[in-house]
Amino acid sequence: MEDKIRSIREAATTSVDAANDLPTLDAIRVRYLGKTGEISLLSQSMRDLSKEERPRFGSLLNEARSLVTDAIEQKTRALEAVAEKSRYAQFDATLPGPTLSRGASHPLTQLMGKAVAIFRRMGFSLADGPDIETEFHCFDALNTPADHPARNEQDTFYLPDGRLLRTHTSSVQIRVMENQPPPIRIIAPGAAYRRDEVDATHLAQFTQMEGLYVAESVSLADLKGSLEFFFRELFGAETQCRFRPHFFPFTEPSYEIDIRTALLGDSWMELAGCGMVDPAVFEAICQKRGDRAFDPEKISGFAFGFGLDRLAMNLLAIPDIRMLVETDLRFLRQFAN
Ligand code: PHE
Repeated sequence: MEDKIRSIREAATTSVDAANDLPTLDAIRVRYLGKTGEISLLSQSMRDLSKEERPRFGSLLNEARSLVTDAIEQKTRALEAVAEKSRYAQFDATLPGPTLSRGASHPLTQLMGKAVAIFRRMGFSLADGPDIETEFHCFDALNTPADHPARNEQDTFYLPDGRLLRTHTSSVQIRVMENQPPPIRIIAPGAAYRRDEVDATHLAQFTQMEGLYVAESVSLADLKGSLEFFFRELFGAETQCRFRPHFFPFTEPSYEIDIRTALLGDSWMELAGCGMVDPAVFEAICQKRGDRAFDPEKISGFAFGFGLDRLAMNLLAIPDIRMLVETDLRFLRQFAN
């Protein structure tokens, strides 16, 4: 019995010495100290010994158990220290840290920024209005009576209280004129809403940019000059502009603007609506304000509005308007700068 204990002790400590990694060490622990390990089995066999023999073997066995336990513990600490050291040895403090990917503006935001910058150079300032509008600001004051086709409920989203999602940014014209006397020279980029079926060229929410210039003796020549300048700044000096007679309830005369440039495939493209502010609009403002600050006999103005999504699609060769709102990074990254 004594020899057996000694040989087990020796075998255990020798293999602990030889162990090079933690899993091997754990296997050794199980082999000797586990429930059915060799040392545990020996203590069970103590039952077979005589009463006199038991204490001696008991203490020998305990000694062997604690020796092996200590050896395993020590070796575990040693192996862990080595592993730690090699982890630090691999750590290179001079390596660059994890890179933060830089955000970029959405292509529509970039285009809006460019457009705003050009108009600012012409003395336009930014104006804003709510997306949820009253019928007065979106239609009535813009000379669009209740029986006008644009008032059809099919055309926009109505709230239970009678307000609606603005169908165009032209409502901002009214908001501004209500609150400030001429001269006025503003642009108003923002969202507009229509009850359109969503497809490759339509979204229920899109982006427009409105412009309004009201002062004494603003003429059609000012309108033409300003918009031609804008489109040439944006698309290049060789860009051609065409003003085609059209109808809008709130401008008279009214035009649609087509432009043509090699950059956009050299064919005429309809881009904007514009015209001279209709006297009926000025009258509605005067009535609302309760003064004659916008007396159509004394002042005049031009207004325009165009769709920025449309412009972005043409400029960037984007085939489907939905790509602008899908937030697919594979698409958007192409325009990151
Ligand atoms: N609001 C018009 C539209 O959405 C565009 C427009 C604005 C026309 C200003 C004339 C003057 O179609």
